[in-house]
Amino acid sequence: MPSYQGRSKALARTFPDSTLAITYGATNAQFSGAYAEYAVPLARMMAPNPKNLDFVEAASTPIVAVTAWQLLLEYAQVTRGQTALILGAAGNVGAYAVQLASHAGVHVIAVAGAANRQYLTTLGAEGVVDYKTERLEDSLTGVDVVLDTVGGETQQRALRVLKRGGILVSVLSRVPERLEEQYGVRAAYFYVEVTTARLNTISELFETGKLVTEVGTVLPLDQASRDARRRAAQAWQDCAEHGVSEAVSIQSRRMIPRRTARITASVRSRT
Ligand SMILES: NC(=O)c1ccc[n+]([C@@H]2O[C@H](COP(=O)([O-])OP(=O)(O)OC[C@H]3O[C@@H](n4cnc5c(N)ncnc54)[C@H](OP(=O)(O)O)[C@@H]3O)[C@@H](O)[C@H]2O)c1
Repeated sequence: MPSYQGRSKALARTFPDSTLAITYGATNAQFSGAYAEYAVPLARMMAPNPKNLDFVEAASTPIVAVTAWQLLLEYAQVTRGQTALILGAAGNVGAYAVQLASHAGVHVIAVAGAANRQYLTTLGAEGVVDYKTERLEDSLTGVDVVLDTVGGETQQRALRVLKRGGILVSVLSRVPERLEEQYGVRAAYFYVEVTTARLNTISELFETGKLVTEVGTVLPLDQASRDARRRAAQAWQDCAEHGVSEAVSIQSRRMIPRRTARITASVRSRT
């Protein structure tokens, strides 16, 4: 990538006492400041790039792959042989969750549009429920774990297919306590924490071929910010139409264009 090399040299001139490390990760807890040619990230949220990924692939992965890791292994704490229902399985987070679950020996049922059936089967899903034409509760029951990247009505319907004592983990919204009690299930919500240790784990999974990336549209920076604003406006409109306000206000502030890669260089001082 010639422009990157050129910038690396410029950085080296600007910071002559530093070594240049090729890293990936997130800028800070708010994920702000990354729509820029240069960003100053927190070192504790960065790690060396996976060796087998190019810059664009590496830049596209940290937040969504770490989210999937935390969903599955830290919050749901899946074990081999369990069945996991993954809502939004063809999305950025969902597709990593499918791969991680499959590698952990978990039976994966993916909820996604029919167009993604083949893609998800390739990633390891054993079944695909088309959310546009099928109702979860018509074909499923006794699921151990639900991983929710969709929220709303889909989340509420998924509670009905969980077995008693099962767990739903969401990155969208909290499940009301009364519903946990009604269905005899547990629920958790969290906001992703990108750390060097988690990124190193993700890197190892890429380097050993257990995770693969799927980069979609790559936009120049000026278009990326416009695209984010357009998507935020669309999200507000969708929510207004569905009478939801709180969940979307969170999403639109933190919105990252779908499958848009960003490149961040970090400079580490020589010790
Ligand atoms: N809390 C956190 O820390 C955290 C971290 C990362 C992401 N998130 C949030 O998690 C959500 C997912 O992120 P993402 O990057 O994976 O988004 P994404 O790439 O846009 O994926 C969303 C997927 O959900 C699918 N979908 C939409 N409605 C559905 C339904 N009713 N049932 C099943 N699937 C449905 C979409 O399919 P179509 O293409 O057919 O529409 C799409 O494939 C976003 O809202 C994001 O803000 C939260």
